[in-house]
Order: sequence, then C-alpha cells, then structure tokens
Amino acid sequence: MKATPMQTEARREPVADALALRPLSRALGAEIHAADLTFPLEGPAFERIRRALDEADGLLVLHDVQMTPGQHIELARRFGPIERHAAEGFAHPDHPEILVVSNIMKKGRPIGAIYAGQYWHSDMSYVSRPPMQSLLYALQLPGIGGDTMFANMYRAYEALSGPMKRFLGAVEAVHDYSHAYDTYFNRLKERPPLTPELRAKVPPVRHPVVRTHPVTGRKSLFVSPGFTTGFVGMPAEESGPILEFLFGHSVRPEFIYRHRWRMRDLVIWDNSCTLHLATADYDLSTPRRLHRVTVAGGVPR
Ligand code: OGA
Ligand code: MN
Repeated sequence: MKATPMQTEARREPVADALALRPLSRALGAEIHAADLTFPLEGPAFERIRRALDEADGLLVLHDVQMTPGQHIELARRFGPIERHAAEGFAHPDHPEILVVSNIMKKGRPIGAIYAGQYWHSDMSYVSRPPMQSLLYALQLPGIGGDTMFANMYRAYEALSGPMKRFLGAVEAVHDYSHAYDTYFNRLKERPPLTPELRAKVPPVRHPVVRTHPVTGRKSLFVSPGFTTGFVGMPAEESGPILEFLFGHSVRPEFIYRHRWRMRDLVIWDNSCTLHLATADYDLSTPRRLHRVTVAGGVPR
C-alpha cells in the first residue's frame, strides 16, 4: 500500500541523533559537521540528509565539505534533475549546471551572477515549475559580511489568522522575473540588463499563495518581494497593501536564521518553504564566490 506523505511522516524517527545534527536557530535550520561524510553522499547517508532537510523546515548547513564541482552536481542530482538558471551568462564555464554567484570581475565583466538575491526571494519562483532545493557552496568569502538570511515560510503561514489563511488559500499570485530588474537590477551598472530574449523566455506566471509541501504535507506561504507582483484578478490598490503586509510578516525576526558563511560550507535549502536574502553589506572589491546547483521541482499546489 502506498502511504500518503502525512502517514510516512508520522512513522518517522527523528534522524538528529544519527547525524549529530544541531539546530541552528529557533526559526529553522540544522547544521552538520561533514568531516565524516564522503561526497557525493550515497544510499542511507543521502536519505538521512534528505530527511534532515525536511525535519529542519527546509534548511541544512554542512560544514567542511570537500567536494569537486562534479561531486556538487552529483549530490544535487540525488535530490532530482538539475534545473539550470534562465540566464545562461552566469553559468560555470566548464559545468553549465553550476550557477556562479560572485562579485568578481574579469575583463570588465562579472564572472557570475553579481548582486544575486539581495532581496527576499525563493529561487526562480517566476517559472511555472520552480526549483525545489538549492545547494550553495562557499569558495571565496569576504573577511566580514556577506551573510545570507533565511525565513521559515511554514511559520509565516501558521502565524496568520484563520480569515487571512482562508482568503490567501483562495487566491493566486503573479511572479515575474522582470520585477527584480525594474525594482533593483536596473540601477546597478555591473548587472547586465534583461534582454528581450530572456524576457520572452520567462513570462510572468501564476502560483498559489499557499502551497502544500509534497513530502511533509505542511502548508507554507509562497510570495516574496523579489518576484511577486500582485494577486490574480485584483487591482494593485487591493493586492498591494496585502502583499506589503505579507512581505513584512514573512520576515519577522522570529522566523529568520542568519547564516555567517565559513569556507566550504554547503547550504541546502528548500525553495518551497523558505525565502532567502543575500546581505549587501560587504566591500565589493573583496572577492566573494559561491557555486549554486538547483534541483527541479513540480508545479506548486
Ligand atoms: C542564491 C542566492 C545568496 C547569497 O544563490 O540563490 O540568493 O548570499 N545567494 O549569495
Ligand atoms: Mn537565491
């Protein structure tokens, strides 16, 4: 008999002891010292990581991870097929599956996505099947600053009132990549503009505002100031103030964990139940370089 996700969940034993997992905050996240793990992880070791990610509400930090770009991609593939970023210009020259997140300039051009994610967002929520997991690996870091913040969108949903939950459960929201350009990237000279080709490749899409996690069966809020522009069928005067409320509510301090990166940290997050933001507080002349591999997801429901 095929168990539903909720039944599976109820039978599970917590994996924390087996992995020496430590909670990172009251809000979300757990951390593991990866010295004893062999990458890419296989079999039961990988299954424990996958479950730990769900148990930690969609955020896992692995410290001291020694892996090659190929192993990074292989590890991501265990979660599911790789999703490439819509903008090809940010890809690693030898590994197109890897998105380079960096402020480093070579020959007057950034080597990857510069100023990536300096607003609250869920990766690529502007496509019809947004990615589930992102795996971000730190290779060069500024001496101080450049933290990444994560917000627990299960908690954000659960903290809403009954009437608000019912209203949001009945509406869809529009997600649009060009919104990030209009409100943010267009002001930054190093960031290449949104080309008409890329614009055509990523037209605005609709998603439920409240989605249900395919494994945990829990509901989470799925809107972000990065890409969400309005509710379907509602004028901006109506949807704007509600969205503004939700954006502020989603990132209340008690829903947030702030990650201070160390070299060779691998941070894995679930884009369906978290938001994240890159803190723009470091000197751009100090190099920061991370590799991201992103795993494909299904249609949010
Ligand atoms: C990302 C992202 C945040 C950061 O890679 O998806 O948003 O701090 N990065 O670099
Ligand atoms: Mn991101």
